[in-house]
Amino acid sequence: MTNNRSTTMRHAPVTVVGLGPMGLALAGTLADRGHATTVWNRTPGKAGSLVAKGVHRAETVAEAVAASPVTIMCLKDYATMYEVFDPAGDALKDRVLVNLNSGTPQEARAAVAWAAGRGLSYLDGAIMVPPPLVGHPGAVFLYSGSRDVFDEHRATLASMGDPRYLGAGPELAVLYNTALLEMMYATMNGYLHATALVGSAGVTAVEFAELAAGWFVPTVLNPMIGEDAAGLDEGAYPGDLGTLEMNVNALTHITRTSEEQGVHTEQPRLMREIAARAVAEGYGDNSYLAVFEVFKKAAQAR
Ligand SMILES: NC(=O)c1ccc[n+]([C@@H]2O[C@H](COP(=O)([O-])OP(=O)(O)OC[C@H]3O[C@@H](n4cnc5c(N)ncnc54)[C@H](OP(=O)(O)O)[C@@H]3O)[C@@H](O)[C@H]2O)c1
Repeated sequence: MTNNRSTTMRHAPVTVVGLGPMGLALAGTLADRGHATTVWNRTPGKAGSLVAKGVHRAETVAEAVAASPVTIMCLKDYATMYEVFDPAGDALKDRVLVNLNSGTPQEARAAVAWAAGRGLSYLDGAIMVPPPLVGHPGAVFLYSGSRDVFDEHRATLASMGDPRYLGAGPELAVLYNTALLEMMYATMNGYLHATALVGSAGVTAVEFAELAAGWFVPTVLNPMIGEDAAGLDEGAYPGDLGTLEMNVNALTHITRTSEEQGVHTEQPRLMREIAARAVAEGYGDNSYLAVFEVFKKAAQAR
């Protein structure tokens, strides 16, 4: 009996609203995992490949939401969610909605109030992988807000990826999502600028990449994210192995080298400016990590 119930829970029916590249991957993966899947999309033709493998295409959002105990929503943004779901009116009452689109913390909090006003149980979430990796091992999905919704539908959520519950604050999932994406873009820009810099001397990206990856991950990334994190929490940045002043010199060299080599200079200039501000605030004898003190505050008017 227990086994039957857990099997049922593992393969509970599910609805997916939104069939962009990500919604298609979610619905396809859920169907492949054995969930009876219903979909709705503004442009119905996008469901063609799903219908061919047995997915049900609902005519209306109300019909889609009524078809399953939980509706996974993956639309462009929060504004689109309101545009799509508001016309469903009373059909939303006592249903469960899990929102996987991207947005901002304020938008996530507003969505909770919106859902409560319609009698909807609501969980916010964010997807940390591109569509081809949905359903694969290590595909991280972030959730925050209602613990009850998370626990009750965890088995369905687990069919899409590794579900991580971050806490009761509904904004946590989108906040983590944007923080991780910021880290990705900053790292990519560092790598791309560095590649342009050596490229100015005729070095190919392929030649540089091998050395860059072999150096960056073990020497910079791993120690910084692992060992140094506790120091950030404590506001302790001992500069005995290298001071922020020394790092400002390095950033000055990067800026001047970029000028000499005729590549873009704004990115290194901005990094130098931020580090110089930390020095001006009295952290010159600390390590480079004292730049964290500048990042924690809103920018001052210049
Ligand atoms: N793609 C990725 O790599 C990725 C990765 C992580 C997270 N995400 C997030 O997942 C969400 C969906 O992304 P996506 O890549 O699938 O594509 P998207 O272009 O962000 O969203 C496409 C979906 O939104 C619908 N839509 C847009 N405007 C609409 C409107 N006014 N009324 C009704 N429906 C509307 C589209 O319907 P139509 O088909 O009718 O146009 C389609 O279902 C986004 O928030 C994105 O940030 C995407």
